[in-house]
Amino acid sequence: MIETIRWVNNSIRIIDQAELPNKEVYLNVSSVDELIDSIIKLKVRGAPALGIAGAYGMVLGLRELITSNEFISVEKVNKIAESLIGSRPTAVNLKWGVSRIKRIIELKQDAKTNELMDSAMSEAHAVLAEDIQCCLSLGRQGSVLINDNFSILTHCNTGGLATGGFGTALGVIVTAHQQHKRIHVYVDETRPLLQGTRLTSWELMKAGIDHTIIADNMAGYLMAQKKVDCVIVGADRVAKNGDAANKIGTYSLAVLCEKHNVPFYVAAPTSTIDSIAKNGNDIPIEERNQEEITHLLWNRIAPVGAKAYNPAFDVTPATMITAIITEKTIYKGPHYNFAD
Ligand code: MRU
Repeated sequence: MIETIRWVNNSIRIIDQAELPNKEVYLNVSSVDELIDSIIKLKVRGAPALGIAGAYGMVLGLRELITSNEFISVEKVNKIAESLIGSRPTAVNLKWGVSRIKRIIELKQDAKTNELMDSAMSEAHAVLAEDIQCCLSLGRQGSVLINDNFSILTHCNTGGLATGGFGTALGVIVTAHQQHKRIHVYVDETRPLLQGTRLTSWELMKAGIDHTIIADNMAGYLMAQKKVDCVIVGADRVAKNGDAANKIGTYSLAVLCEKHNVPFYVAAPTSTIDSIAKNGNDIPIEERNQEEITHLLWNRIAPVGAKAYNPAFDVTPATMITAIITEKTIYKGPHYNFAD
């Protein structure tokens, strides 16, 4: 289990994912502004990990209000919540984690400050503990879809680093490996920020799982050669009809799967299901800095002045998803209806 994000010495301790795999360093984040900066720079990333960060971030925000002797008004709490949620708009878990603590603050508004702080803190710890259990359960659920000798293709990073420590789509793969199924994983490099090459490969190395990194544009060729038995990815937000937003490039994989008759699975905890979004059109897509495209790991590769487009996520229509795996069960497609 990777200690991606923990509460240590009165601050949030995160493994700095921007430095991986070259350096394994931990950062102590002790203010809301620092946390927002770490989220924007993807030092902490992945939808469920962002949910946990959001929860602990609200605790930091509450502490800032208390120590500056400010009255804990609904407006001030909302302002902190909105600034955290706005730092990564697509990952609905961030909003979910923030809302868990906001609810406690609202419920306990009349309590003494130390009691309020204790309640907020225990709720944030519960968000982390629940995520770990949830991912273990999701891994068990999804592992039934993985047969012995399967070659699995995955995109971005959905492992312990993207969660409280175990992972979603990668958690399914790790569980299958723990069940002694002989598997091979094709890891999409995942341009522009290379979460596949840097993070997923790092995790698979640690877990001792056989894998091969490929450039994102190689998946079709592999499928044409019948080298992929299934694709399994995570999600940053799933709409009520099952449309799923995930790292840019996921939709292209689903199109390839349809063409080549390869099962396409999405693994996500129920906290990733947005009970407000009716379909993919209701999912906000984060657009990031052009430099992530014009530069490769901060070294310029494009001519000076070249324009670039950088949506961080895309939406895969529900009808292209063979099944959605949650911690509760496996929902079979092509039609989904997630109730409120
Ligand atoms: O931009 P990132 O690295 O936060 O994107 C992460 C993903 O797209 C993951 O697939 C998703 O958050 C699911 S994580 C279990």
